[in-house]
Amino acid sequence: MTFTFKNLSADRDDLRVDVLTGLAASPKSIPPKYFYDEAGCRLFEAICAQPEYVLCRTEQALMRSRLPDIAAAIGAVDCIVEPGAGDCVKVRRLLDALHPGQLVVMDIAGAPLAAAAEPLSRDYPDLAVTALGMDFLHDLEAAAPHLPAGRRLIYYPGSSIGNFPPDAATALLARFRRLAGADGQLLIGFDLKKDPQRLHAAYNDAAGVTAAFNLNLLVRLNRELGADFDPARFSHYAFYNPVAGRIEMHLVSLAEQDVSVAGERFHFALGETLHTEHSYKFRCDEFSTMARNAGWQWSAEWTQDGFAVQLYR
Ligand code: AVI
Repeated sequence: MTFTFKNLSADRDDLRVDVLTGLAASPKSIPPKYFYDEAGCRLFEAICAQPEYVLCRTEQALMRSRLPDIAAAIGAVDCIVEPGAGDCVKVRRLLDALHPGQLVVMDIAGAPLAAAAEPLSRDYPDLAVTALGMDFLHDLEAAAPHLPAGRRLIYYPGSSIGNFPPDAATALLARFRRLAGADGQLLIGFDLKKDPQRLHAAYNDAAGVTAAFNLNLLVRLNRELGADFDPARFSHYAFYNPVAGRIEMHLVSLAEQDVSVAGERFHFALGETLHTEHSYKFRCDEFSTMARNAGWQWSAEWTQDGFAVQLYR
């Protein structure tokens, strides 16, 4: 039916500011959202195809096998809203089952989002598609004027919620709650706690794709911030921390070295870490407590092979 693209990206210098702030901190860190330049998106797709990283395939299998139950539990919706929609592939299954009149997708990478979302308006002739190019972590509330009135379903698959520390995850869920409105629902996917050896293997694939994904961050900073990182002098290091319930991903300096980034110099001691990602794993009850603290009421859940999808009202 109709397709609308709006670029709501604020004209900020987020990458430079966030990277310089993160490198000046102790321990050094960079937010994981900066993994996803063009090469990073391709590498993430390749991670999802690795035999050790079953997260994406398991979620898709769950959504396929339990779709009738999931659709029945959701009931009628007028609009599906997907923050961080990327290639807009996952939402197709819900469109097929729920037939909403409107779809609103958001992503920080506006041009690829528009290219992925536009075909949906052709493939679903009764669907009005709005693509919003925006960093929803900063600007989620700016999406509100673009959402139609009616029953909204926020869809947040892929265990992306696990990439936030618990306080930030709760805050994001509360912002989703406000965006969803009075009759709103949330369908969210997350990775479950499981055998640490399986988790360790998933972030240390034998083909080295996750290592390349992690190191690509340095390549991006070299290109976009004029940095002079030598990726060969950093090592991908990922492990499961069972006390914190999360995978921690680091780039560990293999030498004492100075690196220049956006005109500023930073010193790395031998063995010093640059922390790049946390990936929290949950039990269903832990997650529902967090969601309840964010104002959501548990409605249903489905689990399969170490992955969960929960529905909230
Ligand atoms: C996107 N996110 C849920 C992935 C994860 O598992 O935390 C990103 C990823 N990092 C390394 N492998 C995959």
